[in-house]
Amino acid sequence: MKRHIEGIQTYLHSGSTDDLSNRIEVLRCVIDDILLAMIDPVERRCGYLHLYGVSQACALIALKRNENVELATMAGMLHDLYSYQAMHTEKHAKHGAILARQILEGLSITSQEETDIICSAVRHHSSKKKIHSPFDEVLKDADVLQHYLYNPMFPVMAHERERLERVLAELSIGGRRNRDDI
Ligand SMILES: [Fe+2]
Repeated sequence: MKRHIEGIQTYLHSGSTDDLSNRIEVLRCVIDDILLAMIDPVERRCGYLHLYGVSQACALIALKRNENVELATMAGMLHDLYSYQAMHTEKHAKHGAILARQILEGLSITSQEETDIICSAVRHHSSKKKIHSPFDEVLKDADVLQHYLYNPMFPVMAHERERLERVLAELSIGGRRNRDDI
């Protein structure tokens, strides 16, 4: 029993897998390399929390909506990578889509169509006031949900309130500390 638990912990903590056909884990190695190269430990922590937090939220929402959970998880991991690598957010969605394409094409783990789907979501993820494809919307909603879950006691940014309300309602979540806080 103890060895079994240790095995699970080792897997969960290292994120490693011998199954190189698992595309999420192949991509995770690249994401980790970029994040680990960040000099500022505070920014590095933010990068890990946000990219993998959004990635998990993407998985949750994609499962809920019957969207492609594997591609959604990968899109979440990639979506703000440019910002953390370049250490600025100017036009980061556009640059992020370019970086995502470079990474995916370099890894050769996605088809052209899959690469386009992921890069479209990254490209559009900052346009929270607009509605794009259902897959694009998974990433936008995951981004907003992660911002909220990082610390539910923080005030929600004005431009994310409406979208967050919709996502929480969709997930049948109504137990916030105070409805007026959103
Ligand atoms: Fe983000």
